Amino acid sequence: MNDYRQLIEKAAKARNFAYTPYSHYKVGAALLAKNGNVYTGCNIENSTHTPTVCAERTAIFKAVSEGVKEFEAIAIVGGKEGEISPFCAPCGVCRQVMAEFCDPSSFKIVLGNPLGNPDKFEVYLLRDVLPYAFTPKNLE
Ligand code: THU
Repeated sequence: MNDYRQLIEKAAKARNFAYTPYSHYKVGAALLAKNGNVYTGCNIENSTHTPTVCAERTAIFKAVSEGVKEFEAIAIVGGKEGEISPFCAPCGVCRQVMAEFCDPSSFKIVLGNPLGNPDKFEVYLLRDVLPYAFTPKNLE
């Protein structure tokens, strides 16, 4: 789908801003909101390690901090400095943050390498990458 290709390209651009003096692993994310807005994010590391934030959470928190909480999909592009992995899966913490806001049976996680074949990407549903999630529904 062409839209996903564009989302991957936006994630790749955001990756250029990744601040990674420690891991040298750079990640970019592009989050498509239901209202059509796209929020980008990169990973931002810290010399004390714990405050490091992933690209996906940067993008989600940017959106939520602007009042947007309904999302369709997120594209993720990552890899060691100077290369891009074809498969940069989101970490468990980011999956949990997605589960807070996104519908598990329709929210899509799009993984691809725009420097390889830009039309080749994988699409996963949140429910498949985070089964049996603890969500706001548990507290109802
Ligand atoms: N990272 C992300 O930004 N997203 C992921 O889904 C996986 C890991 C970042 C965190 C850290 O800055 C670096 O990649 C290496 O773990």
